[in-house]
Amino acid sequence: MTIPQQRTVRDIAADRLPALLRAMPKAELHIHIEGSLEPELIFALAQRNGVAIPYASVEDLRAAYAFTNLQTFLDIYYAGASVLLKEQDFYDMAWAYLERAAADNVVRTEMFFDPQTHTERGVAMQTVMDGLHRACVDAKARLGVDAELILCFLRHLSEEDAFATLEQALPFRDRFIGVGLDSSELGHPPEKFARVFARCRELGFHLVAHAGEEGPPAYVWSALDVLKVERIDHGVQSTKDAALMKRLAQDRIPLTVCPLSNLKLCVFPDLGQHNLRALLDGGLVATVNSDDPAYFGGYMNQNFTETFAATGLTAQHAWQLAANSFEGSFVDAAAKRAYVDRLNSAFDAFA
Ligand code: ADE
Ligand code: ZN
Repeated sequence: MTIPQQRTVRDIAADRLPALLRAMPKAELHIHIEGSLEPELIFALAQRNGVAIPYASVEDLRAAYAFTNLQTFLDIYYAGASVLLKEQDFYDMAWAYLERAAADNVVRTEMFFDPQTHTERGVAMQTVMDGLHRACVDAKARLGVDAELILCFLRHLSEEDAFATLEQALPFRDRFIGVGLDSSELGHPPEKFARVFARCRELGFHLVAHAGEEGPPAYVWSALDVLKVERIDHGVQSTKDAALMKRLAQDRIPLTVCPLSNLKLCVFPDLGQHNLRALLDGGLVATVNSDDPAYFGGYMNQNFTETFAATGLTAQHAWQLAANSFEGSFVDAAAKRAYVDRLNSAFDAFA
C-alpha cells in the first residue's frame, strides 16, 4: 500500500475557491461513459443510425430527466444508449467526454462501460471495445488525459450472463484494467456475483462495485468481504454503520462519491445535506466524481463547485479530495507521487 501524503493548505477566500477547484489536477474514478451521452449526441446518433427514440426533441428528452430514484434514471439511461451501434458512435461518445474531462483538469480517468447494454442489442463486443479504446489512446496523445476502462457487469442480470460477458471480453483483456458492478442495486446484493468476481480476481483485474448508493451498509460489507473489491462506488450509506466507517478508514478503501448524482436521484434532499464532509471527517478516502454527467447536471468541476458552495468545504478539503483521487486510482506508486506533485504545484501557483 502507498503511504498517503498530507499537506496543510492555507485557507483562501470563498470567492476564489471555485477557481482553485477548477484549476487543480484531479482523477475521475466513477464515470459511466454511457452516462456522458448528451441529449444532442443522442439525437445526432439516432438520426445517423436510423434509430427511433420516443422523444420529439432534445428539449423533450431533457425534460424527462426528472428522476425520483435510481431505477427511474436507469430506465431512461438504457433507452438513451440504444442509439449506439457502430465503432464510431462509441468513439464519439467517449471523445466528447474526454474533451470535457481535459477542460476540467482531469488528468486521469477510469471509465466504466456496460457491455451487456450493447451486446444484448446485437452490437459486437469488438465494436464497443474498438471505439472506446481508440478514444482512450487518442486522449493520451492529443489531450494529455490518461484514460483507462473498467468493464461493469449489470447486477439486474444473472451471474451466468456476467460470466458469458467476461468470456466475450477476454480476447480484449489488455484494453480494460478492472471490472465493476452497476445497475439496480436494491434486491441485487454483491454476493450474487461472488463467483464471477473471484474469477476476475484470479485473472488479475482490479475490482470495484457500486454499493451503498441506495442499498444498505450490509451491501458495502459484502462488496468488501465477498467480492473483495478495492474501491466502493458511492458508499454514502456507510455513515449509518460506525463499524463499517472504521473498516473503510482503517483499510483506506476509497469511496467514489458522486454528489450531483445523489442529489438528482434523491439520495439526499439537497446538496447542503450531503455527507461528503462526514466521510472526510471520518478519515475515509472519499473522492468526488460525476457518475452520469449528461443526466445529472454536471461534469467534474460542476460537482466540485456546487458541492463546496452548498456544504462550506474549504481549500484543505479540496486538496484532500484531489489527493484522494490519485491515491484511489489504479496507477502505480510512482505515478501517484507524480500526480500529487502536480497537485502541490497547482496549489503553490494559486497561493
Ligand atoms: N449505471 C449508471 N449509473 C449508475 C448508478 N448511479 N448506479 C448504478 N448503476 C448505474
Ligand atoms: Zn455509478
